[in-house]
Amino acid sequence: MTTLNIATQRGTTAYHLGDGLLGSVGDIVAPVAGGRRAFVVTDANVGPLYGQSVAEALDAPCLELPAGEEYKRWESVERIVTWLLGFGVERGELVVAVGGGVLTDIAGFAASVALRGLPWVAAPTTLLGMVDAAVGGKTGVDLDLGKNLVGTFWPPAAIIADPLTLTTLDHRQLRAGLVEVVKSAMIAPSTLEHVVDSHLEAVAGGDAPRASELVYAAVRVKADIVELDERESGLRAALNLGHTLGHGLEAATDYRRFLHGEAVAWGLLAELRIARDRGLLATSEAQAWAGRLATLGPLPGLGDLPWEKVAGYIGRDKKRRAGAVQWVLPRLGGVVLGSAVSDGEAAAVYAELQLLAPSGPFSPLF
Ligand SMILES: NC(=O)c1ccc[n+]([C@@H]2O[C@H](COP(=O)([O-])OP(=O)(O)OC[C@H]3O[C@@H](n4cnc5c(N)ncnc54)[C@H](O)[C@@H]3O)[C@@H](O)[C@H]2O)c1
Ligand SMILES: [Zn+2]
Repeated sequence: MTTLNIATQRGTTAYHLGDGLLGSVGDIVAPVAGGRRAFVVTDANVGPLYGQSVAEALDAPCLELPAGEEYKRWESVERIVTWLLGFGVERGELVVAVGGGVLTDIAGFAASVALRGLPWVAAPTTLLGMVDAAVGGKTGVDLDLGKNLVGTFWPPAAIIADPLTLTTLDHRQLRAGLVEVVKSAMIAPSTLEHVVDSHLEAVAGGDAPRASELVYAAVRVKADIVELDERESGLRAALNLGHTLGHGLEAATDYRRFLHGEAVAWGLLAELRIARDRGLLATSEAQAWAGRLATLGPLPGLGDLPWEKVAGYIGRDKKRRAGAVQWVLPRLGGVVLGSAVSDGEAAAVYAELQLLAPSGPFSPLF
């Protein structure tokens, strides 16, 4: 087991990572629980695979929510809190969330508001959950008006990531999660580039046990950034690399066509092209990153998705100024925050993306 301590404004989150770790969840949770009761929340897919056995090991009751982003709603939070209160939950007792990012976001949120805040532990079982959703303290739910519009900063006391759980995860989900790892590698190549080059292909091909090192390095990158800027006042924006276009693609297709990571992959490709055109990256460098992304395909295509539809969802917030949106762009050795990209420039790059074969290679983009 490897443990990484992440400093947060509320204390320290101990991130424990290791193959088979869920098998010794009792030992890990015991010092956090301090003899108090634990309550396990999981989803209907993960429950039978891992959630129920975690609950048994902790001698804890177990609540299974339906799986899927459509259940990341107030109603699920109310259900969890009501369930906890049904057991007479008291302050200091522990919520243990076992599942993907949807589940840890909901359960973390419920923990943050039940009795004005219960401690919680996240046991992420998707790659995206391990490298992204469970790290950084953000919890929340969706509204009709948009995703993640309600939430709290409530870092878990501990995170338990067992890469062996990834062996049951759908391959498409696994590859989409790896896009966020490549994103982190573009943000901090000195930490991640070599690990990506030695592990990405194997993990993308389904060799989930090879994921440990990738997870460790990606968590370090996110943790470093979040420690410096927990409340997203500046630096944390680097993590939005690939997300300006990515979010637009997801929203324009009603969150049905792309998994989040797949949309981010298109966003990263667009930014690589813009960065190359602006002289921030050499063509060979941009092509190397595009090559890594190609190992995570095929991506759902863009051919029939008009720019006008996507553009309406890009930068609808305060990031838009005078016909331009502030993007994060890659550059040699890192990223540049707040680069103005005009609507015309974005439209031209999108037209180039539409010409690419969604299964790659993506090198013709450069
Ligand atoms: N809080 C944050 O900072 C943060 C960051 C990134 C993403 N997120 C959130 O994460 C969510 C996406 O998370 P996700 O991609 O993990 O999706 P998810 O939680 O929906 O999981 C994907 C699917 O895989 C199933 N599953 C999970 N683990 C499994 C396993 N080991 N074996 C078999 N099936 C398994 C789930 O039941 C689900 O059907 C989004 O709601 C997003 O907003 C939050
Ligand atoms: Zn993301």
